[in-house]
Amino acid sequence: MTLVIAIDGPAAAGKGTLSRRIAEEYGFHHLDTGLTYRATAKALLDAGLPLDDEEVAEKTAREVELAGLDRSVLSAHAIGEAASKIAVMPAVRRALVEAQRAFSRKEPGTVLDGRDIGTVVCPDAAVKLYVTASPEVRARRRYDEIVAGGGIADYAAIFEDVKKRDERDMGRADSPLRPAEDAHLLDTSEMSIEAAFQAAKMLIDAALKEKI
Ligand code: DC
Repeated sequence: MTLVIAIDGPAAAGKGTLSRRIAEEYGFHHLDTGLTYRATAKALLDAGLPLDDEEVAEKTAREVELAGLDRSVLSAHAIGEAASKIAVMPAVRRALVEAQRAFSRKEPGTVLDGRDIGTVVCPDAAVKLYVTASPEVRARRRYDEIVAGGGIADYAAIFEDVKKRDERDMGRADSPLRPAEDAHLLDTSEMSIEAAFQAAKMLIDAALKEKI
C-alpha cells in the first residue's frame, strides 16, 4: 500500500521546504503540485496563447510532463499570477488532478503539496497537514528570500500580492483552498523551518502509527 502525505496551505507558508524535507525523511517521492499549474501557465505564456481560453489551457495542461518540473525556471512572479488565473478553470484542474493522482500512487509513498490535496486530489491520504502562517510573516519570508538572493524587493507590494493570491486561491468555486476536516493545522508564524519540520514529523509519526 502506498502511503500518501497531503500538505496544503497558502502561498509562501513554507510548504515547499517542509514537504521536501518530509519526503527525504521518509524516503517518499515528492510532487509540488503548484509547479503543474505554473508549467501550464508558462507554456501558454511562451506560446503567446490566451490565459482565458479554457479549452486551450486544458490541452496545454494535458501536455505537462511531471518529471521535468523545476521551480527555478517556473518561479517568476508573472508565471505565479498566470498560474493562479488558470487554476480557476475546472477543465484545467481535472487534467492536472488526474496526473497528480497517478503520481500519488508511486511506491512506497508520496508527499504532495498544494492547495487541494487533502480535500480533492487525495482525500484518503494517510496524513493531512494544513500549513499556514500570517500574511505578514509570509510576505516577510518572501521578501527576505528575494533580498538574500541579491534581488530588490518591496515589502508593501509583496504583502498586497500575498493577500491577493489568498483571495483568489480561497475564493474560487472549484476546489478552493481550505483545510480538510481531518487535517492537522500547523501555524508556522512563530516557528523556524527546523521547528516546523519537527512538529510535522511528530504529527506524521503519530498518524502513521495509527494506520499501521
Ligand atoms: O504554490 P504555487 O505558488 O506554486 O502555486 C501557483 C498557483 O497554482 C496558486 O496560486 C494556485 C494554483 N494551485 C492550485 O490551484 N492547486 C494546487 N494544488 C497547487 C497550486
